[in-house]
Amino acid sequence: MLNRLFRKKDIGAMLEASSQDNGGLHRNLTATNLVTLGIGAIVGAGIFVITGQAAAEYAGPALTISFAISAVGCVLAGLCYAEFAAMIPVSGSVYAYCYTTMGEFLAWFIGWALVLEYLFACSSVSSAWSGYMLNLLDGWGVHLPPQISQSTFIYLPESGWQWSGSLINFPAVFIVGILTALLMGGIKQSALINNVIVAIKVGVILLFVGFGLSYIDRSNWTPYIPANTGEYGHYGWSGILRGAGIVFYAYLGFDALSTAAQETRNPQRDMPRGILISLGVCAVLYVAVTAVLTGIVHYTSLNVAAPIGVAIDQVPQLSWLSPFIKLGAIAGLSSVILVMMLGQSRIYYSIADDGLLPSFLARVHPVRGVPQRATILAGLATALIAGLFPLQVLNELVSIGTLLAFTIVCLCVIVLRRTRPDLKRPFRVPWVPWLPLIGALICVVQMLSLPWPTWARLIIWTLIGLLIYFFYGIKHSHLNK
Ligand code: ALA
Repeated sequence: MLNRLFRKKDIGAMLEASSQDNGGLHRNLTATNLVTLGIGAIVGAGIFVITGQAAAEYAGPALTISFAISAVGCVLAGLCYAEFAAMIPVSGSVYAYCYTTMGEFLAWFIGWALVLEYLFACSSVSSAWSGYMLNLLDGWGVHLPPQISQSTFIYLPESGWQWSGSLINFPAVFIVGILTALLMGGIKQSALINNVIVAIKVGVILLFVGFGLSYIDRSNWTPYIPANTGEYGHYGWSGILRGAGIVFYAYLGFDALSTAAQETRNPQRDMPRGILISLGVCAVLYVAVTAVLTGIVHYTSLNVAAPIGVAIDQVPQLSWLSPFIKLGAIAGLSSVILVMMLGQSRIYYSIADDGLLPSFLARVHPVRGVPQRATILAGLATALIAGLFPLQVLNELVSIGTLLAFTIVCLCVIVLRRTRPDLKRPFRVPWVPWLPLIGALICVVQMLSLPWPTWARLIIWTLIGLLIYFFYGIKHSHLNK
């Protein structure tokens, strides 16, 4: 039994299989596509929604420092992802890296955590998309009936789960349906549409920063680090740290890029570039937006659903920007869902290709080169969860699943450097083991700071995963042959 749990896939055989027929997937993505896919996956609800709340409640104008700290943790994990994605350019991301280093059981465990991350990230962002869309429609005088404009269930800390009175969050289900259809058409077409969306959202952000600069009132930045209220996490340095934990969500998505390694023309060269450049661009954008935002509006007024909109409304000369910002946010959220759904389907595909999930999910469309059934499964699961559950509950789960994945990928880099020093590494993380160790440590500390109910949900999710593995995966694994 133990032998089965720790059996590993041979890296050489895996690379050879992917270089022969590439599992039917098409290598269409260039370095530029990867950078835009990265920015497409990263810039979303984090900057358009969460920034304001984090500045108002935790860090004040010093949220810029929180964004910088959080970026350091993500860059460390990003370096580790880059080493693996260049060395093992297959679509399973951490799941595949783990299968070759730590064995099947841990690989399944981490694959299941990735499903959690991508499934719940897509669902939470779809739910945020629905909020922005309803707001835009309201502005145009179109009002959707309440029975189809809210999640079916809501969660109140004092009374627990309740029926909201709505049947389903229809706009959330709608956007998932549209993007699933787009993904079914092939990765080239999806990447093209993503490029257009990214141009719109980055353009809108640059407009905000560019025009907003002249309306900054420096008194809003004083004091830059508001004094701590006496409670941990409320302003002061502890507030900056808590803010960093909260805005971590804003950087998620760069890791989804590594799931497209098998569809990249030159993954050895381009994967590290794609991951690191998109992270760097987003870090700069985030710090700039936060500086302008807290410069235009006093941070205490930013605890709202659309903080950038509030800043614009504060300056009458900028009112023309308002509809562009809303459209930019809606476009921006769409590309996050698109790329995270791509990641989700590629994880199902990779796990099924190893026999740990039913093999029909690994079938690839002969012409489009898309794992269509895995894509349909991703669409159905996301639509169901986004339609039924509220944003807040989904958000917390995303962070814990991702931090777990990041910790393991950092540790796997160290293990593989020792067990397989001979492998060709087109990109190497500097200062191993120290940098990956610090990366893993930052992730573990952030996980420990999350509340108990989130841990409880992670445990339930893991138990479901264990049942699937012991009743299905272990018996059908292709390594049995
Ligand atoms: N980074 C993604 C966002 O902010 C999850 O929407």
